[in-house]
Amino acid sequence: MNSYRVAFIPGDGVGPEVSHEAQLTLEACANEFLFDVSCDTFGWNCDYYLAHGRMMPENALDVLKPYDAVFLGSMGNPTKVPDHISLGPLLSIRQGFCQYVNLRPIRMLEGVTSPLSTATPKNVDFVVVRENTEGEYCRLGGMFCPEAPNGFATQMAVFSRKGCERVMRFAFELARKRKAEGHMGKVTSCTKSNALNYSMVFWDKIFSEVAAQYPDIDHDYLLVDALSMFMVSKPERFDVIVASNLFGDIITDLGSVLQGGMGFAAGANLNPEKDYPSMFEPIHGSALDIAGKNIVNPIASLESIRMMLEHFSEVHAAKALLAAEQKVLSKGMVRTRDMGGTNSTQEMGAAVRAELTA
Ligand code: IPM
Ligand code: MG
Repeated sequence: MNSYRVAFIPGDGVGPEVSHEAQLTLEACANEFLFDVSCDTFGWNCDYYLAHGRMMPENALDVLKPYDAVFLGSMGNPTKVPDHISLGPLLSIRQGFCQYVNLRPIRMLEGVTSPLSTATPKNVDFVVVRENTEGEYCRLGGMFCPEAPNGFATQMAVFSRKGCERVMRFAFELARKRKAEGHMGKVTSCTKSNALNYSMVFWDKIFSEVAAQYPDIDHDYLLVDALSMFMVSKPERFDVIVASNLFGDIITDLGSVLQGGMGFAAGANLNPEKDYPSMFEPIHGSALDIAGKNIVNPIASLESIRMMLEHFSEVHAAKALLAAEQKVLSKGMVRTRDMGGTNSTQEMGAAVRAELTA
């Protein structure tokens, strides 16, 4: 029997509520599909920071290393700890575990609605492959006399050949896999080389080189501003988008609206080689205004678990979980607040698990 160790970091805000549903659902999948999971929980969050002066222990990465995967609820509570500090661990895990792909499916499930009239389950079905370890989020730079009238700050963006090539290759391989399943087989590069005359010109150059190695896959380029417009006006033109860290971050929040809102948007931080654990998370963040009320939509977290199952190659379980989510949502009987309903986080999670085992 296959067996997996999963570390849960519930974090702040709504993190613990969604993390609980995620764990129950992973365990339900294990029962149903005959694999073994053992889950441990780590209470690293802003309260931990207030008690210990750091968001997680110094050896946190060593502690997490033996796990097969990490589930992260969400980190951040600016009333307790400034965001640029509380979000350090997230970036440290992504970088330290070489999770260079941040995979974010933008798919609208049946039964979900979006404020955008162009968004339908038929034409919103693409994936953003976001570079996740370097680019604009490399955290290099500095401040010179920040209080002084002549003070200034610099923030560097790092684009290495290795970093660009590997994430772009991943995007093309994914497009190939999707093409075999009936998708377009196209990779769109999200760029801004008209203004960013070094980093994005370099990005474009590497993209052309990698694209040439995949003659069976179409490719095109869009400037990030135009790409944002097309995501709204013509979502069906996309199959796989490859984007730098910052652009990928921004366009996937926009993408979540196409999917029906943050309640549905999941992300996988992948180390494709499996040298390190990969990390799975809903992308909604800590949503402090609704924390502790048992009203957050857990679907984004269940979708993160589904991506974890895919990463484990538990394909049957992953497919069944998606089918269960689809059933619950398309019936429309169970709807959380964000969907205009009154059901709780727990009720939504339980309904999906009931379909899973039906
Ligand atoms: C995300 C988040 C993070 C990011 C923040 C919290 C640092 O917005 O995962 O999209 O930008 O990577
Ligand atoms: Mg983001």
